[in-house]
Amino acid sequence: MDQEKAILVTGGAGFIGSHVVRLLVNKYPHYRIINLDALTYAGNLANLKDVEGKPNYAFEKANICDEDSVNKIFSDYHIEAVIHLAAESHVDRSISNPTGFFMTNIIGTVNLLNAARSHWDENFTGKCFYHISTDEVYGSLGSEGMFTEHTPYDPRSPYSSSKASSDHIVRSYFHTYQLPVKLSNCSNNYGANQFPEKLIPLLINNIRKELPLPIYGEGLNVRDWLWVEDHARAIDVVFHEGKFGETYNIGGVNEWKNIDLVHLLCDLMDEKLGREKGTARKLITFVKDRAGHDMRYAIDASKIESELDWKPSVQFEQGLSSTIDWYLSNQDWIDDVTSGDYKNYYSNQYRNR
Ligand code: NAD
Ligand code: DAU
Repeated sequence: MDQEKAILVTGGAGFIGSHVVRLLVNKYPHYRIINLDALTYAGNLANLKDVEGKPNYAFEKANICDEDSVNKIFSDYHIEAVIHLAAESHVDRSISNPTGFFMTNIIGTVNLLNAARSHWDENFTGKCFYHISTDEVYGSLGSEGMFTEHTPYDPRSPYSSSKASSDHIVRSYFHTYQLPVKLSNCSNNYGANQFPEKLIPLLINNIRKELPLPIYGEGLNVRDWLWVEDHARAIDVVFHEGKFGETYNIGGVNEWKNIDLVHLLCDLMDEKLGREKGTARKLITFVKDRAGHDMRYAIDASKIESELDWKPSVQFEQGLSSTIDWYLSNQDWIDDVTSGDYKNYYSNQYRNR
């Protein structure tokens, strides 16, 4: 990649985006990283306190659904590459309020593609539009098999269908306009700075406060967990070395039944909080299942491993332990994001379950 390249990272104030921004700003001082984020409930500039003063970093508060703002940022910064993470990302919110997911995840993506197309003006040399997506587009697995890059799409929630739509649209710009695009589809991430609507930080926060731990259904659903910094490393590798027009599946090779993960988390928390073993497990409360709850996700990451030499670096127990440590030593962060609107979200989401 060229010196002085201006890279637009969308959604950089969110969970994964903030880890991607940090990695790029620190590793590539000669790149200019422009973080475009609307700062929705999920965006938090406190996630990037350590990079905000760096000379190769800039923040622009903007909504990807607003064409004029997106175009202005493209021309002000002479954007040459996009790493697109901005999205509405929580399945439960997509079930109660789907429309915003279709606006941001589909129309917002179209606006970015159109801006790239028109500002790059058919001169695609050195340009790249990298779309970050999810394994949920592939649907739900039974007890066997894994998602490969060739698994047919079968999204089953408003969130996953909005992401699936955006993936198809990104690919259509490659085939129709030869826009230089890349995609990756990743499994469940965990780590520091994840908003506590998602399973792991929600449980950590509730255990700390000795609140019930809401487990959907019987806790038998399976997810494939990946350390967020390993995802950020994979994004760096795909961005620099992935082929245009290609998709790369990224996963942790780390499947956990929800209830087993919850037990592990409870035991680690008891140990770290100096509580008697078994204390946190007593908080487990089985609640009404999520509508259309996908049973199992598992990623076959052999393509990125063999072609781009990426693989996960952190063992789950080690990653989970340091994730807990991060939340316990950043209680101001969690208290801040759980004040205000979070309380309304939580009571609406878990009332009557
Ligand atoms: P997140 O919800 O933590 O962050 C999303 C960010 O996007 C926030 O900073 C938010 O302010 C911003 N945003 C939302 N709507 C916007 C808009 N209209 N305009 C501009 N900014 C907007 O999400 P995340 O978990 O970090 O996920 C990031 C991306 O990775 C998403 O595209 C998601 O689909 C994908 N992904 C997430 C996971 C996961 O486990 N979290 C796994 C695979 C893929
Ligand atoms: O697979 C990638 C996806 O992982 C990403 O695309 C999404 O953006 C991300 O949110 C995540 O989706 P999930 O729905 O798998 O994650 P979540 O943390 O919401 O839930 C994980 C599992 O835990 C799932 O089976 C539902 C269950 N769960 C979740 C919550 C919030 C509970 O049992 N109780 C809960 O309170």
